[in-house]
Amino acid sequence: MGRYRLHVNGERREVDLPADTPLLWALREQLGLLGPKYGCGVGACGACTSLLDGRAARPCVTTVAESQGRRVTTIEGLSDDGDHPVQRAWLELDVAQCGYCQPGQIMSAVALLAANPDPDDAEIDAALRDNVCRCGTYARVRAAVRRAAEIERGDR
Ligand code: FES
Ligand code: FES
Repeated sequence: MGRYRLHVNGERREVDLPADTPLLWALREQLGLLGPKYGCGVGACGACTSLLDGRAARPCVTTVAESQGRRVTTIEGLSDDGDHPVQRAWLELDVAQCGYCQPGQIMSAVALLAANPDPDDAEIDAALRDNVCRCGTYARVRAAVRRAAEIERGDR
């Protein structure tokens, strides 16, 4: 066991866990952040996608030791009341079906738009390629990313 200082959603948090514990367990089990979902556990489905230092990352294959000193953002840290532009676009286009994959989809979209504020369809598909949706919401996800880009630009 070891104590690891994490910086999660703008707050300093401390966890006492073995060094190789996946960050996802620290977030969900110790810190009560249930937005990042457990899907595959091997970095393949995207359900757990969160941001590490602003980039999309997979907490299921990132250890707490590797996360120390880095900025971790889960979907809970995007906004206080769900009004982040990506969340607004998701609601406007009613993207979610069962919802399980959607926090990961949203966090991948946030990372994409931070790096590329006006992505075309091919760039959206490439950035979200590894976010799997069993319900098949891919067309609405793509449209919502484009809508979020409009909202962030201030278009109506
Ligand atoms: S649970 Fe992390 S990528 Fe599938
Ligand atoms: S909305 Fe059901 S898995 Fe994506």
